[in-house]
Amino acid sequence: METKKNHTLVVTGASWGDEGKGKIVDLLASGAEIVVRFQGGNNAGHTVVVKGKKYKFHLLPSGAIQNKTIVIGNGLVIDPKVLFEELNMLKKEGFNPNLKISENAHIIFPFHNLIDGLEEEEKGNYAAGTTMRGIGPTYCDKMSRFGIRVYDLLDEKIFRSKFEKIFELKRKMYKTLVNTDKEWDLDKEEIIKRYLDHGNKMKQYVINTAFYLNQAIDEGKVILFEGAQGALLGIDHGMYPFGTSSVTWSGGVCAGTGVGPTRIDKLIGVIKAYTSRVGGGPLPTELNDNIAHQIREQGHEYGTTTGRPRRVGWIDLFSLKYAVMINHYDSLAITLLDALAGVDPVKLCVGYNYNGESLKTWPIQSEIIEKCIPEYIEMPGWKNLPPEEWSRIAKKGYNALPDKIKDYVDKIEEILGTELAIISIGPNRSDTIIKKSIW
Ligand code: IMP
Repeated sequence: METKKNHTLVVTGASWGDEGKGKIVDLLASGAEIVVRFQGGNNAGHTVVVKGKKYKFHLLPSGAIQNKTIVIGNGLVIDPKVLFEELNMLKKEGFNPNLKISENAHIIFPFHNLIDGLEEEEKGNYAAGTTMRGIGPTYCDKMSRFGIRVYDLLDEKIFRSKFEKIFELKRKMYKTLVNTDKEWDLDKEEIIKRYLDHGNKMKQYVINTAFYLNQAIDEGKVILFEGAQGALLGIDHGMYPFGTSSVTWSGGVCAGTGVGPTRIDKLIGVIKAYTSRVGGGPLPTELNDNIAHQIREQGHEYGTTTGRPRRVGWIDLFSLKYAVMINHYDSLAITLLDALAGVDPVKLCVGYNYNGESLKTWPIQSEIIEKCIPEYIEMPGWKNLPPEEWSRIAKKGYNALPDKIKDYVDKIEEILGTELAIISIGPNRSDTIIKKSIW
């Protein structure tokens, strides 16, 4: 193994999620001993392809298929059913990751999913188009200090006492939220029994992960922190209210794991050759024509979690510049350049025009963004190639890339002012060019 100069590495998506982080994390995880998630829940969808076989994760860190130690930090919200489904799937496939779960992560209950759907209906135009996994309502309870944490599930007395209160509150909320005569049909005792059972099964994995991770850093262990969603979907710096409820940018690592900012060595952002997003909200570079269809099919742009077709558009370097600014990434990885092949010319959005003026910085406010007209530059596109050809190029390295791709990469580097260290031109782990070593 190469000697590590950096011991803690953070990988986050720089836009609206689905940047191909799963693959990049999987690639970098081979150099790590511990892979950690720090935010979100099973709203995430990470696809990793190894030797032609696809593995899909929603909750567990992608390092799971490398039998690493994997950690679910305190910043997550956990649906225990999904947790055990993924663990069972891994066991069946012959993987045996060493899992640690934070005692302070919050638990998703059936009423969270129910309320997620009802609130979305009430929001009308402001609906984010959530994954309906109960993510927002669970974070909401966390912040209002009504939530139930992993630790609570391990003690029947504590759990019952907290759960009975929250259950009653949610029942009242349900009655005020629902416009129908539908009855609240959740069975309190059944849920208590089921979740105590989950707690019992979880016990073996539960520790103080902040202590564990800080100790691991003291011992010089190599740790990779894996983001879910993307910077522009985050609760603070994303397009509010059309995003998710967790802290998705690199700063979320500290809050979501208990590892301090000075202990983080390197930050990598993942971008893709074009833009995509699922759910509501303005998307200035969105395409709705044949090119959109072509990109969607070539990039398999359908949600890993919901199966929804993703909205696609030209790369939005103006919003990415904002993401690069807040994260202050050391370097970037770009994915899916092969999926943009055959589109000629390609456009790159380098600014937004609002009310006849070019904006200085990306405006977070969705009301402004929806009125912005993207400012584009155009570049020649590159030819489509059969998958084996992309793999052959990846093996040969950066110099073997078609010149037009190199020009595209150079232009992105120039505009974002950050190096593209990893270039991905196919779904497999091996279809990747490391232009500059990350560790
Ligand atoms: P929630 O996270 O389910 O509350 O959904 C809020 C918004 O974030 C919706 O627009 C979702 O489509 C989007 N979202 C959540 N998770 C992901 C993800 O992993 N990739 C892309 N979009 C996501």
